[in-house]
Amino acid sequence: MEASFGAKGSCTMNILEELRVRFRPILAQLTSDPESYLKLLRPTQDERLGDYQADLAMPLAKALRRKPREIAEEIVAALDVADMAHPPEIAGPGFINFRLRDEYLEKCLQSLLDDRRLGVPPVEKAETIIIDYSAPNVAKPMHVGHIRSTVIGDAIYRTLRFVGHRVISDNHIGDWGTQFGMIIYGYRHFLDEDAYKKNPTAELARLYRLVRQLIDYQEAVQKIAELEGRLQAKERELAGVSSNQTSAAATKMEDKKRRELQEEIEELREELEELRRKRATVEDNPTLYEWAKAHPNIEQDVLQETAKLHAGDEENLRLWREFLPHSLDEMNRIYRRLGIRFDYTLGESFYHDRLGPLVEELVQKGLARESEGAICIFFPDIDTPMIIRKQDGAFLYATTDLATLRYRMETWNPDAILYVVDFRQSLHFRQLFAAARMMGYDRVKLVHVSFGTVLGEDGRPFKTREGDVVGLESLLDEAVRRAYQIVCANDDAKPTGPELSEEERRRIAEVVGIGALKYADLSQNRTSDYVFSYDKMLAMTGNTGTYMQYAYARIQNIFAKGGVDVTTLRKLDGPIHLKHPAERALGREILRFPEAIQLVLEDYRPNQLTGYLFSLANRFSTFYESCPVLQAADSEERQSRLLLCDLTARVIRQGLELLGIEVVNRM
Ligand code: ARG
Repeated sequence: MEASFGAKGSCTMNILEELRVRFRPILAQLTSDPESYLKLLRPTQDERLGDYQADLAMPLAKALRRKPREIAEEIVAALDVADMAHPPEIAGPGFINFRLRDEYLEKCLQSLLDDRRLGVPPVEKAETIIIDYSAPNVAKPMHVGHIRSTVIGDAIYRTLRFVGHRVISDNHIGDWGTQFGMIIYGYRHFLDEDAYKKNPTAELARLYRLVRQLIDYQEAVQKIAELEGRLQAKERELAGVSSNQTSAAATKMEDKKRRELQEEIEELREELEELRRKRATVEDNPTLYEWAKAHPNIEQDVLQETAKLHAGDEENLRLWREFLPHSLDEMNRIYRRLGIRFDYTLGESFYHDRLGPLVEELVQKGLARESEGAICIFFPDIDTPMIIRKQDGAFLYATTDLATLRYRMETWNPDAILYVVDFRQSLHFRQLFAAARMMGYDRVKLVHVSFGTVLGEDGRPFKTREGDVVGLESLLDEAVRRAYQIVCANDDAKPTGPELSEEERRRIAEVVGIGALKYADLSQNRTSDYVFSYDKMLAMTGNTGTYMQYAYARIQNIFAKGGVDVTTLRKLDGPIHLKHPAERALGREILRFPEAIQLVLEDYRPNQLTGYLFSLANRFSTFYESCPVLQAADSEERQSRLLLCDLTARVIRQGLELLGIEVVNRM
């Protein structure tokens, strides 16, 4: 059974949507914009007031210059929801509250028993949607920042597919950038042949880090000199702010000035300290220091290698072709572990040949023009132009993105393209989208699904103690290591003794550790920065993946203990009874799954789903504490409760699957 039945008297799948269906014609009589008012129909905050509430009479009354209560009464009189809810109540100035009928809830739940979609209706019109996510710059080790794009993008991908869209994931990897110039340079000057033969990936990573370090060193040396000058100037300025003012106002001004200067000085000092640390790591190491002195122009030389690669230099191309598979192996190993796969991986290199002709064409069409030797696209409403060819002839990230966009339009003719990328690239995407419109792609929906930074517990960008960004792989290892400890401790503490073999413990730890990591990220409001904490993400209670997986395992445990065969159970047509308030609360929550999915897709926010799952698991907990299942009063009650357990488990499992998280039967 797949359909959402709108017909009166039957139960619908998305209850909130069904209420909206009933409201829509009535609102259409009152306003030309019913949709914006329909948004004000939502689940109640305070459950004592009912299940859903409509707060639309007040704003509507304001717009119509009428009394809100009168409007509310008019709406309620015209509304026919008798099959779903008790007569709506009007509270206060004009809030309309609904309490769903228990029989209606029971019937809806029963209809879920053989519904593989758990009530989520398929979209009426399937769209072609491309999602651009993960997209690391390969050959650099993947770091914590990549997890956000990867995990959020994957969850959106799965959810869009689930509701029936044609979704294409395209991993726009950075496989053509300066990092290859760095590795080529490193390979020519610092290669350890034996190490390369034994483990090419590791050796290439070492070369990348080494060259990066030497470049950073040269930059630090220059910048330190400059900052020291600025610091001195500020200190002199601070000393010059006199403190013998007569008027109170003047004193206040000076205090302010002094504070500002002190802050700036503090910032400069911190920055200097960081740079001096970078300088010291090289100078304290005799070999590194020798190399640094022997390669004073390393930065320019590396750029040179990259430029040669882009210009088609045979030898550099050969090296690039030799290195790339190793970088891809490394990347794919992490994806495998994360359970993530892409439909396409068309990286930057794929578009290289298209950049020159594209720029020519844009110039010819008058969409781009020369400015100070560079070719730029200017926009009427964005101050900064988009440079698409530099003075020296080099193309940029933006040029590649334009070529990519065109390719995607020509290949798949999508209805939408979603870019799951760090918020710091907002300007880039505003420009890209504006340029796309100018190129005539004005029907496709283009969205920058942006996200904030991953912070350490100190509130600063998440780094290792040495100041490096944390590698993704070590992050996974650490999460799994800690999950393993938790799994073992739980198992050892079981009243009848441990139940899990070593192998099971390891497998469960992998599922729990990776799940915790993903869930922690997904449960954040994606646009805020988020604080990374192993302890929080692996907590057994609270809004964590571990708690969700635990709730699932707990239900499987009930079935195991009661010798319940779920396949047979599911074949029953019910009945499901919601007699106890905790049963009703759980049942109603199960029926909200479609609403949660709808909210996720409204603004591409997986945290809408984690929030929902958390509330579902909490209701389950309350239900389980107050309603005996295996020891229910009679067999009908037992069966009804078992069915509620099973529906809960299925929703949790499906919900987690949409987030890319696995479940285990025991933990
Ligand atoms: N490789 C880029 C980076 O690491 C992200 C690419 C995102 N996708 C895109 N089409 N620009 O910053």
